[in-house]
Amino acid sequence: MTQANHPTQRATVTAADITPPLPPERAAAIAADFDLRRLPPAFLANPYPVYAVLRERDPVRAMPDGTWFLTRHADLVAVYRDAATFSSDKHVEFAPKYGTDSPLYEHHTTSLVFNDPPLHTRVRKLIMGALTRRAIADLEPGLIALVDGLLDAIEARGSGDLIEDFAAAIPVEIIGNLLGVPHDERGPLRGWSLAILGALEPVLTPAQQQAGERAVREMLDYLRGLVAERRRHPLDPQRDVLTRLIQGEGDGERLTETELLHNCIFLLNAGHETTTNLIGNALVCLHEWPQEKARLLQRLHEARDDRERQEAILSAAVDEFLRFESSNQLGNRRALREAEIGGVRLPAGALVTLCIGAANRDPAVFADPERLDLSRTDNRHLAFGFGVHQCAGLSLARLEGRIAIGRFLARFPRYALSEPPVRGGRARFRGFLRAPFVTAA
Ligand code: HEM
Repeated sequence: MTQANHPTQRATVTAADITPPLPPERAAAIAADFDLRRLPPAFLANPYPVYAVLRERDPVRAMPDGTWFLTRHADLVAVYRDAATFSSDKHVEFAPKYGTDSPLYEHHTTSLVFNDPPLHTRVRKLIMGALTRRAIADLEPGLIALVDGLLDAIEARGSGDLIEDFAAAIPVEIIGNLLGVPHDERGPLRGWSLAILGALEPVLTPAQQQAGERAVREMLDYLRGLVAERRRHPLDPQRDVLTRLIQGEGDGERLTETELLHNCIFLLNAGHETTTNLIGNALVCLHEWPQEKARLLQRLHEARDDRERQEAILSAAVDEFLRFESSNQLGNRRALREAEIGGVRLPAGALVTLCIGAANRDPAVFADPERLDLSRTDNRHLAFGFGVHQCAGLSLARLEGRIAIGRFLARFPRYALSEPPVRGGRARFRGFLRAPFVTAA
């Protein structure tokens, strides 16, 4: 069991480990010995020097377990583009992992993200049709009220935790609103989500597997009731995502009950930890880059009478946070046939890890990539993936980031961390567990 990939056994790495950066010789040593199942805490604190060495010296790396690890932006794009060769279907990998009669197996192999066409195309079309501009715009007033309520509570105390009191409290409510989950029934959502996503880690304990399976069963039971209720009392399909998913498209395209339930579970989970980490990483980053924070505050102040300009400034900042500290650092594909990537031949069946965190700091694409530059333009980051599986919730994630970060800064422009933040020691989902702060330094 590796510390890197075990959600309950977290490394308590602090900001002191993040700066100063890894010395180059230490980064080179970790890169030479790079194994995702044995990652030292120094890597989890700051993987970027190691990624830089891999990108330069071994961009399509054969890993000790026979898989391949890709770090160049162009190589990731090539894999994302060629979905006919690089499959997202996980039936082959998940059958031995969970057993084919496991609820986790049924869940993950029915989610659109782990499928290829034709199932993927059909489910994606319905989900994208339901996540309309209007459905997302309808969430904005509730999002603002939620964020302001959290900020009021923090202001009354003068201190708080950026993660527990703010970043983690937002996505669960927003996704709950998106699917119309009644407020008093949202309590278990976060725990279910963490248990199901936790079971995706490469090495599983029996306890983790059981917790994941229980969570899928309980979530299915819960959603069956919610869906039955919505079937009895449908809402406006132009605005209500669940009604739209139930009713399907005008051309008769519908999800089966199993597809509907599992993809609702996936929707509830997909925007959870990722969005928490976007907001948490951004606020920690701003603390660590005080000049960039001052510059952002100044630009927002200058645009105070121009809402559109303010939104544009915050949107660019959110995309730079996504590039600089991508909440989802790794993706996976399986080669269905022999293929060549970055001049390296990959055999049929090759399991490929796409390192989004490394690609997003590739100097071939980003000027001065190790610098947080909140006014960066032409930011072609891959934080939401790319191609047919590109994040279906990216507009919602960006909206949540913009509102949460923008309103936090407007309320507490002089906030400061009061203790070193504690990282969630995982390589795939990059973020913090705790980040205590005071509202004014
Ligand atoms: C900062 C927040 C987020 C990040 C960084 C993120 C990242 C990603 C990435 C990298 C993928 C592609 C996976 C792959 O190609 O293998 C993805 C897919 C997906 N995401 Fe997100 N996501 C975020 C928020 C959300 C939200 C809020 C929702 C829900 C409304 C969502 C729903 C989805 C769905 C449905 C897919 C599957 C798309 C497909 O397979 O066609 N995500 N996300």
